[in-house]
Amino acid sequence: SQLWLIVPAAGQGRRMGAALPKQYLDIAGRPVLAHTLARLHAAFPDAALRLCLDADDAHFSPEWVPFADWERVPGGRERADSVTNALAALEGVAADDDLVLVHDVARPCVALDDLRRLRAVLETSPGGGLLAAPVADTMKRADADGHVVHTVSREGLWHAMTPQGATYRVLCRAFAHARDTRVALTDEASALEALGLAPRLVPGRRDNLKITHPEDLSLATRLLSEAAWDAPL
Ligand code: CTP
Ligand code: MG
Repeated sequence: SQLWLIVPAAGQGRRMGAALPKQYLDIAGRPVLAHTLARLHAAFPDAALRLCLDADDAHFSPEWVPFADWERVPGGRERADSVTNALAALEGVAADDDLVLVHDVARPCVALDDLRRLRAVLETSPGGGLLAAPVADTMKRADADGHVVHTVSREGLWHAMTPQGATYRVLCRAFAHARDTRVALTDEASALEALGLAPRLVPGRRDNLKITHPEDLSLATRLLSEAAWDAPL
């Protein structure tokens, strides 16, 4: 069956504070967006892509898209609105049982091995799933002034990364349910959870960072410039 990739790339990158949205910042001669799409294509050469872009995007170039089957979809106000638009664009195109993976354009350092393992797990996971890593640091709950209120046990705490996904039917049902019940969505897994499903956490590499702040860009640049940085650990 067909694998569909949805890449939300309609954000403004406010926390990065750069002149360009962060997906267009340069890493080793190519924009972040080109790196992310190249990695997805290397893992899933036969997948079809739906790329969410802001209607006013003046920086995008189709030369960065390596997929044969791809379309541009208008971004929405929030990330979840962008993904909703992409799911709507697949209506009548995707089959119910087709797998859909959603991957942030801001995560160019996703390892090919993790992408392939996630796909394999999702083939048999009715509640969908996501790449994730167990929390390593001690966690503190703080008050508004930045004083510790208490220590939160990290037992059972994970960092949720992307890709995240499920079959087309399950993901559409989850997003429709979230819309009807006005649940705020930060990721696909939260939509699946709101439907009562238990998405599967697939342990992935911790260096699948989401470029958010300036120091993340230099970290990603160092990783992607290093030969074989994503060789299996
Ligand atoms: N995104 C999107 N549509 C939006 C908002 C975000 O497609 N309306 C995408 C971003 O392009 C990014 C991903 O969702 O790939 C994760 O969002 P985030 O890291 O928050 O990116 P930005 O919203 O661009 O950054 P910021 O929140 O700092 O402005
Ligand atoms: Mg954002």
